[in-house]
Amino acid sequence: MTEPAIRVRDLEKSYKDLHVLRGVDFDVARGSIFALLGSNGAGKTTAVRILSTLLKPDAGSVSVNRFDVATHPANVRESISLTGQFAAVDDILSGRENLVLVARLRHLSNPGRIADDLLRRFSLTDAAARRVATYSGGMRRRLDIAMSLIGNPPVIFLDEPTTGLDPQARIEVWNSVKELARQGTTVLLTTQYLNEAEQLADRIAILHKGRIIVNGTLDELKQLLPPAKVEYVEKQPTLEEIFFAVVGDDSNAGT
Ligand SMILES: Nc1ncnc2c1ncn2[C@@H]1O[C@H](COP(=O)(O)OP(=O)(O)OP(=O)(O)O)[C@@H](O)[C@H]1O
Ligand SMILES: [Mg+2]
Repeated sequence: MTEPAIRVRDLEKSYKDLHVLRGVDFDVARGSIFALLGSNGAGKTTAVRILSTLLKPDAGSVSVNRFDVATHPANVRESISLTGQFAAVDDILSGRENLVLVARLRHLSNPGRIADDLLRRFSLTDAAARRVATYSGGMRRRLDIAMSLIGNPPVIFLDEPTTGLDPQARIEVWNSVKELARQGTTVLLTTQYLNEAEQLADRIAILHKGRIIVNGTLDELKQLLPPAKVEYVEKQPTLEEIFFAVVGDDSNAGT
């Protein structure tokens, strides 16, 4: 058995009387995508902040890339990147300039090549020279994720990566995240969108009232419900299906 990329045991965190995390346990396998689902205020961001060393837990243990967050926070920080809900990109610079800037700040050699490589991977080459102020929400988000990958961290945290994006931009981000995992990066993402977890995650955990109440693959989760019954229903298209039928389903980059 290889060591998981992320291991969380008996994690607890309270803000005064508010017991947000009441004993959270989960593992994330290397190179997999793990979705932490939960409603507003469930404690997803709190968990991500603890896993990324920004917040100290009250009890429990967390290791990331084999490093304990309590005893080796600097090693953990070197192993991860964190993309928060709001894009941390500079509007005045172009997409390429943003990437080059971060590569320079990290003292990497050949920042230009790193930038061009990421622009290609995130389908932003055509927009590379444009000011980020002119980018769409999906493009900004992709640039934000690309920036967080500079230096190739083995583990990335994405806190609600697609909140506020339209369905098409969401698919663009999903494709980027899938590609990351395909290349071996471990991804932990939080989301409130059930279909996002369904589309992306190898495993899905639901955080509810301070605990993980369900943790499994999509197929395992489906088995928690009674077997599907065959019924005759007149199926109305979903709004999402209508949206794609009308705008076309090509998740074209650069638009
Ligand atoms: N610094 C803080 N001080 C006091 N309470 C806090 C603090 N940070 C978070 N909380 C509370 O802890 C609970 C969990 O918050 P958290 O941000 O982790 O939830 P979340 O699952 O990320 O929610 P959302 O889906 O809205 O982002 C909420 O009730 C929130 O108000
Ligand atoms: Mg949150």
